[in-house]
Amino acid sequence: MSGSIVILTGAGISKASGLETFSGDGGIWNTHEVDKIASAEALAKNPTQVLSFYDDMRRKLLSDEVSPNAAHYALARLEAEWAGQVIIITQNIDNLHERAGNTHVIHSHGELTKARCTSCGHVFSWWRDIDTNDLCGVCGEDAPLRPHIVLFGESPLELGKTEDALGHCDLFVSIGSSLTVHPAAGFVDAVNSRDNTRTVELNQEPSARSEVFDEGYFGAAEEIVPIFVSGLLAGA
Ligand code: APR
Repeated sequence: MSGSIVILTGAGISKASGLETFSGDGGIWNTHEVDKIASAEALAKNPTQVLSFYDDMRRKLLSDEVSPNAAHYALARLEAEWAGQVIIITQNIDNLHERAGNTHVIHSHGELTKARCTSCGHVFSWWRDIDTNDLCGVCGEDAPLRPHIVLFGESPLELGKTEDALGHCDLFVSIGSSLTVHPAAGFVDAVNSRDNTRTVELNQEPSARSEVFDEGYFGAAEEIVPIFVSGLLAGA
């Protein structure tokens, strides 16, 4: 049991933890206008509305209602017991992978529990609402803080580390993502383009990129991820 594993996760893995997905039935973007609350343009024009949207999400994430589920814990078990490297690349802005125990997590869309200076880019740990009066105390510019979140119109974070992980993995697993947003939707192609790799999708339903994976298993992540992980650890 060895080899390097990269796991891409999306909103579906956190659904059973009490967090809504973005697209599809009941998805956040069905009831909220992306352009007005989650875009770089909105942050420039109406920061209060953007801060308030992410403040609500942060409050919910840190409430008693939300905790890691069996899928998060299964991935933590995989990192602990697998002989090779296990890297999670998540599109999720929650901290449920870390709370379950994973330590190698790349947050490509940022993190709700961090804030960033709009001038120098310094990143702060952040556990409460971000107020327009919260200013950076590091660069001396008294610049306002913003969520450390990739808004629509901005580039994903940690692209170098992501490319490196994808370029070296033997197994790539996508869990709980509709695979409709780039660059994550194309990660499977980068892995498929190398010889001797295995690509697997675990999702409630086939994603937009399902047909290019070597294998697909469909059902709720909290049910199928623990089974998949047990199989991997048993040598399947
Ligand atoms: N188990 C597994 N999969 C699930 C579950 C579940 N319990 N519940 C829902 N799903 C699946 C859905 O079928 C869907 O394919 O999870 C996927 C969630 O898709 P999205 O809401 O589009 O989330 P994601 O793919 O992470 O979105 C990527 O798009 O809107 C932006 O920035 C946002 O990070 C987000 C990005």
